[in-house]
Amino acid sequence: MEMIRLAIAGTGGMANFHAKHFSSIRGVKLVACCDVLKERAAEFATKHDVPQHFASVESMLDSCQVDAVSVATSDGSHAPVSLAAIARGKHVLCEKPLAPTYPEAIKMAEAAQSAGVINMVNFSYRDSAAIQAMAAVTAKGDLGRILHVQGSYLQGWLASAYWGNWRTNSAWLWRLSSSHGSLGVLGDIGVHIVDFTSYPVGGIASVHCLLKTFDKAPDNRVGEYRLDANDTALLTVEFEGGAAGTIATTRWATGHANSVTLAIYGENGALRVDLDKSWSEYERCRIGRDGKHGAWERVVAKPTPNIYKRFVKSIRTGRNDAPDFARGAEVQKVLDACVYSNRRARPVVLSDFQPKTGRRKRLA
Ligand SMILES: NC(=O)c1ccc[n+]([C@@H]2O[C@H](COP(=O)([O-])OP(=O)(O)OC[C@H]3O[C@@H](n4cnc5c(N)ncnc54)[C@H](O)[C@@H]3O)[C@@H](O)[C@H]2O)c1
Repeated sequence: MEMIRLAIAGTGGMANFHAKHFSSIRGVKLVACCDVLKERAAEFATKHDVPQHFASVESMLDSCQVDAVSVATSDGSHAPVSLAAIARGKHVLCEKPLAPTYPEAIKMAEAAQSAGVINMVNFSYRDSAAIQAMAAVTAKGDLGRILHVQGSYLQGWLASAYWGNWRTNSAWLWRLSSSHGSLGVLGDIGVHIVDFTSYPVGGIASVHCLLKTFDKAPDNRVGEYRLDANDTALLTVEFEGGAAGTIATTRWATGHANSVTLAIYGENGALRVDLDKSWSEYERCRIGRDGKHGAWERVVAKPTPNIYKRFVKSIRTGRNDAPDFARGAEVQKVLDACVYSNRRARPVVLSDFQPKTGRRKRLA
């Protein structure tokens, strides 16, 4: 088996998961890492036994033999870093959100497609065996017409110091600041729950969104960070199949660290999952012969490979697994529509919506 030489761009918190997972896969070698904070890259290299470290993706890729790049930089630099890798013919696994705006995201998807490189976006909750099994149930049509959907992703780190003090940690502060490339909670975890919900239910046809940014510091500023990115996003959506749904996400859900739930109600049955309880079990309710609904049954789903393994397999087989950059861009279009909807205080029909080109200075 030929060795896959992998490099990691961005060596903050999430990069540790990338390093841990990739280094546990046979036939993959971590050969380099980079971070604009070179000392951070150096520490990371020592911690994960990575032979070379650099201060930019360009210097890394121009100095090392690399087959694939895992992009774990902060959101605002996913596009330039991934495009630099794609331009050099490297396969790319990119963290979510693919980019802060749809125009950037679609540019990445098109570049990856024309370069013919494997491209995947880390919608990590797809690694749940439960959501894979639920998607298989809906794809078979076993729920009948799907009518009502509720997805939610709740975090509480603005209300409680469960994950440390956000006021003193750059990894939380950039997430609160649009000029640091963040689309707020919408771009950070809203992106996950939009994917998680629409993956088993189908595309989103229209969205009406309310975004809220609550006061949280004197003058809503901490040092260089202006705290203007949204904290709460509430979406009312209509799916292409006709179902109505709500998708809710916030960083102010006191008592929740990281809670992802989804319920799908169809005319012949229903499914629900709560990832706080299990990533591999979901519940199913069926309509009996008497027309009454039975008890909710627990279903244990078959294990599913995580995205790191699927990415490596895609490189080996040449068959690009999901979710790819095109899917990342599709979800990004929904997020752009949310921002537009919130500004105009009206629903947005996705097929009529053409997000403006170019990076926006202030996103929400
Ligand atoms: N898939 C998931 O479930 C999941 C979970 C957590 C974070 N994430 C994503 O992972 C990414 C990193 O998040 P984090 O929590 O590790 O943030 P972090 O702030 O801890 O790390 C980001 C690192 O990227 C570096 N960086 C920024 N621009 C760069 C560039 N152009 N080139 C090289 N390095 C650069 C920063 O210096 C920093 O060290 C984010 O996009 C985040 O949304 C995904």
